[in-house]
Amino acid sequence: MRLHPQPSLALVSLVLPSLAAAVGFDCANVRVDGVHFDLSPLGGVHEIWHVEEFDDYILNTTWVLNICGILGKKSIRGDLRCGTSMNVCGFEEKIIHGEVEQVRKLPIAGLQPGGGGSKDPEITRLKKQDPDTEGVRVKLSGGEIHEPDSKKTRGKPASAVFEFQCDPDRTGLEGLVEEISDESRRRRRDEDNENDGDGKGDDKPNDDDRRSLRFKSFGPVDDKSYVLRMDWRTRYACENYVREHPKKSGGHWGFFTWLIIIVFLGAAAYLIFGSWLNYNRYGARGWDLLPHGDTIRDIPYILQDWIRRVVNTLQGPGARGGYSAV
Ligand SMILES: *[C@@H]1O[C@H](CO)[C@@H](O)[C@H](O)[C@H]1NC(C)=O
Repeated sequence: MRLHPQPSLALVSLVLPSLAAAVGFDCANVRVDGVHFDLSPLGGVHEIWHVEEFDDYILNTTWVLNICGILGKKSIRGDLRCGTSMNVCGFEEKIIHGEVEQVRKLPIAGLQPGGGGSKDPEITRLKKQDPDTEGVRVKLSGGEIHEPDSKKTRGKPASAVFEFQCDPDRTGLEGLVEEISDESRRRRRDEDNENDGDGKGDDKPNDDDRRSLRFKSFGPVDDKSYVLRMDWRTRYACENYVREHPKKSGGHWGFFTWLIIIVFLGAAAYLIFGSWLNYNRYGARGWDLLPHGDTIRDIPYILQDWIRRVVNTLQGPGARGGYSAV
């Protein structure tokens, strides 16, 4: 608990969660029915692949996902580009007689390049449907699947449904081919120190029972949309985990905190460099040093004028006698 929060920090922590919620899915703050799940230790880019055999060909799909952030460079494989701002994407290889004959991308969830799409997270508490289960289901949308034989330019909408199931003995990263961010690596190290480093073992990516993240299904639903389903067994899906392991405050800075800091530093750099330029080039002094010095000097008057106008509007023309003139 922070007893004396600095005003700026308090403001930032007030604004940040709502900003994150407006943008998409905040994996550290998954809240449903009064339960708080923090899935951020599962963040980072992970890959699992799934092989399906047919009579005369094999489909080998590599699913690349990051529930806490974007895929970035991992959204590109060869000539296939899923969009760097996606969260879940598949690369499907069609293999005939041991040769890769065809590849196609399967953008499932996230924001599409050019700003289209929306993640629209849908969050369900597993206990609500079955009192014997514990965990949380998260549906992320925004993808679009183009069917190979379809002549239409627009594909069908796609989404990913992750079922995070409580398993106190698992971090959730068992058996994953990891591509994790420094941040989650650091957090995980902190936690391993606390828990005496359990959940360790030799990594065999496709040893099915050891794996915590599992592919369940992928395909069209009702001929209208595509859904990818995955199960993820992890202790972070246990309802009392956050309560029993409160986060040490202060260590975790979100993207928007950095954004605000960068904008602030940028403004400061602009003012300093501008002043230096004005000083050196034009020999300016005082207010004239600042770039747009005139405008900055006028700000108090502009504000004053604006406030007066707002007050006048609020009070209306009839209420003029109600206050004593200054
Ligand atoms: C499927 O793809 C993965 C990743 O590219 C590869 O490691 C694996 O060997 C492939 N499996 C088959 C059966 O082709």
